[in-house]
Amino acid sequence: MSGPNTSYDPVEVAALDPAAVDAAVEQALAAAAGASTLEELKAVRGAHQGDKSPLALANREIGALPPSAKAEAGKRVGQARGRVGQAFAARQAELEAERDERILVEEAVDVTLPPGRRPMGRRHPIALMSERIADLFTGMGWEVAEGPEIEAEWFNFDALNFDADHPARQMQDTFYVDPPGDGLVLRTHTSPVQARTLLERGVPVYVAAIGRVFRTDELDATHMPAFHQVEGLAVDEGITMAHLKGTLDRLAAELFGDGITTRLRPSYFPFTEPSAEMDLRCFVCRGEDPDCRTCKGTGWIEWGGCGMVNRNVLLACGVDPDRYTGFAFGMGVDRALMFRTGVSDMRDMIEGDVRFDAQFGMEI
Ligand code: DAH
Repeated sequence: MSGPNTSYDPVEVAALDPAAVDAAVEQALAAAAGASTLEELKAVRGAHQGDKSPLALANREIGALPPSAKAEAGKRVGQARGRVGQAFAARQAELEAERDERILVEEAVDVTLPPGRRPMGRRHPIALMSERIADLFTGMGWEVAEGPEIEAEWFNFDALNFDADHPARQMQDTFYVDPPGDGLVLRTHTSPVQARTLLERGVPVYVAAIGRVFRTDELDATHMPAFHQVEGLAVDEGITMAHLKGTLDRLAAELFGDGITTRLRPSYFPFTEPSAEMDLRCFVCRGEDPDCRTCKGTGWIEWGGCGMVNRNVLLACGVDPDRYTGFAFGMGVDRALMFRTGVSDMRDMIEGDVRFDAQFGMEI
């Protein structure tokens, strides 16, 4: 900016020369019109409207003019700046409108399109089956009990009257947990929950325990190294085998349909005496089709073991066997699921393919 100068003519100040002001305006208008995006507009705006633009500099020169010249110069520069400001504002509005238009087109949503379907996770059919069984028992007034999957050898075998040299203890059946000699195994059945329950809850007791068990079986269509069992235990005064049979028949009818009963065949388990294998009436032919493929014409399907709780188990758990008697049973949950749904290959149950699980919905 020049210093105060009372003698000079405003038209001699180059920046205030009308031609220079007009040229600055023309350039600014051309720049505004030439910007084709908001970013470009912003980039060129400073050169024409900023502090160092020709018109801002011209404006500053006005202060140094003699008073007589200030009005005319001020008007000229003011109008010029006004035109430039309007031109930029108008271009800005135009470009914003174009942008909004474009966004509306680009981001348009066709509300008539079908929504994207997200595959939902599913509950595993074994979990559903386990809950259904638990419901049946709680419906009869029983409680649900639990035990650990890594179990003390004492609960898994000793408390259940297994001799020290019982073959089931062998390495080829049982997964022992390191370090050897610590007396821990992956439970081979849910029966240890019997002993735990008797010790923890005392008698009388009516409990069902459902859970995962482990055996060193190769995985094939009918065997899994990890599978599921449901265990039942009722200990009270005056419990007889008739109560056992009635309970099993009720369970069979609830799970497989009215009229599906059970049959007991003499057997041996260390923790029950007498012991029995439990068969299920064939739920396909109901014993009426000698060519039935499900039961191979026998009319019965093996499902589990049961019996009257052995005195030694009651004694090991501090229960007076002369006053209390009880029954127990154990059977495969996975097998029950296979029976109920026709799944023929157990491997499907553990591969975790949601397409398998999805077939069962949230109920079975
Ligand atoms: N724990 C046995 C098994 O895994 C099944 C069993 C048999 C359970 C007889 C019982 C029972 O409670 O009384 O083979």
